[in-house]
Amino acid sequence: MHAEPDPANRVDHDNPLESLEDWDRFLVDRYPEPGAAPAGRPAEEYRNYDRPEGDRVREFYRLNHARQTLEFVLAKKREWLAFNKRTMTPWQALEYLNTLVDDSDPDLSLSQIDHIFQTAEAIRADGHPDWFVLTGLMHDVGKVLCLFGEPQWAVVGDTFPVGCRYSDKIVYHEFFEANPDFHVPEYQTDLGIYSECCGLDNVHLSWSHDEYLYQMLKDYLPLPALYMIRYHSFYPAHKEGAYAFLMNAQDREMMPWVRKFNPYDLYSKCPVPPDVRSLRPYYEDLIAKYLPDTLQF
Ligand SMILES: [Fe+2]
Ligand SMILES: [Fe+2]
Repeated sequence: MHAEPDPANRVDHDNPLESLEDWDRFLVDRYPEPGAAPAGRPAEEYRNYDRPEGDRVREFYRLNHARQTLEFVLAKKREWLAFNKRTMTPWQALEYLNTLVDDSDPDLSLSQIDHIFQTAEAIRADGHPDWFVLTGLMHDVGKVLCLFGEPQWAVVGDTFPVGCRYSDKIVYHEFFEANPDFHVPEYQTDLGIYSECCGLDNVHLSWSHDEYLYQMLKDYLPLPALYMIRYHSFYPAHKEGAYAFLMNAQDREMMPWVRKFNPYDLYSKCPVPPDVRSLRPYYEDLIAKYLPDTLQF
């Protein structure tokens, strides 16, 4: 998942994860599927969790927490929300996302397209509305930011508000001490630059694939779908219940949809890759029903 791996030792210091899936696996470890494993462990235990990717994930969070400042987020919004980089059909975007190759063993890991089709198919199998299925299909398309050269810590990772105090519910909370905003008193009150119940739409979250895709698709999908896309990585809120004081009535009404989406994202992974060829006609029709012919990246 590296823009430019260091040829000397194959360690890319800006992109410590071998695969974006390292982060997904960490999430499943932290939030085990109900009934499938013991309940979640305290965050401290993850520091030493005994899987080979543990150190890489830790380093990834260290970079994410140290570098996602309010100023960084505003700069990324100016840069990427101009949508002046590339034009693709929705299907081309899915195929492009699938060119995201990484250093992990291809026999052991699923491709990006496998993940999104498994997510969408699991939603479809449960009989949900078609826009919910389409949301499953599209939800990670923003990860193409990695292909455009963005570092992993600015594409994936649990999102959190910037410009106000970091909730202690955020994993590896201690890494925020290295964030320059941690030393700006104005940003370190509970509300920071925000006002009580101002609504999440007025809150800047750390920059990630969620906000990028939300801004791209915001005119085309129903509100619950847009919440799922925009906040699916906002684990401190939808899993931990943090930041309720920033939410307005609409946020409170929509958060259950984000929670409804989460298990399909986390627990739909299955070692058998989906048969994309046979699924394509159904999904092409679904895309045509809701999305424009081309999307601006
Ligand atoms: Fe995602
Ligand atoms: Fe996902």
